Amino acid sequence: MIKIAPSILAADFSKLAEEVKAVEEAGAKIIHIDVMDGHFVPNITMGPIVVDALRPVTNLPLDVHLMIENPDQYIEEFVKAGADYITVHVEACRHLHRTIQLIRSLGAKPGVVLNPHTPVETIQHVLEDIDLVLLMTVNPGFGGQKFIHSVVPKIETLAGMIKEKNLNVEIEIDGGINAETIKPCAQAGASIFVAGSAIYGQEDRKAALQSILTAGEE
Ligand code: DX5
Ligand code: ZN
Repeated sequence: MIKIAPSILAADFSKLAEEVKAVEEAGAKIIHIDVMDGHFVPNITMGPIVVDALRPVTNLPLDVHLMIENPDQYIEEFVKAGADYITVHVEACRHLHRTIQLIRSLGAKPGVVLNPHTPVETIQHVLEDIDLVLLMTVNPGFGGQKFIHSVVPKIETLAGMIKEKNLNVEIEIDGGINAETIKPCAQAGASIFVAGSAIYGQEDRKAALQSILTAGEE
């Protein structure tokens, strides 16, 4: 089953609640929230107060993608604000296993994110401890970038690792996803797809979301 997770980074921030409700009605299964600190990535976006503000607006799970240094310092605040999934970059975690344990102990679902150049083998020994792996198909920092095709073989490798260990870990893809780029990723074994500009960049959000979903299910 394919799930679409719209990224509110591309939404109109002056009416965020409406923007979230619009994609929920359009068939979104998860809301993706991009947190950037200006250090781990060259951009600054939003913090726990935005998660807190959106929590009462939707019943969908909130997927908080932390593109920040020292994620441990902020995880509890994001969980308290209402995050359901918290994903941390392997490149930003010195003690990845400890960070995963922290997320789990606070009651959220932990996930790990890999930049396009980071091999999937780096997370082989934490696969049992997480609920999802997020593979970046752009370099993190901005919406609207071009999909990096060379990540597709990583999806296949990761899907193989998960299958071999017989685990229930989902593969999520983030960056440059549209009705074309979703296809090879879905075929390679990913099930959750973040889409920012391909949804919020279109006047008709429902048509945009549904066309990506249909392409992924083909
Ligand atoms: C990039 C973010 C993405 C971004 C995706 O750093 O992690 O979630 O919002 O935007 P699009 O779909 O426009 O590439
Ligand atoms: Zn993201």
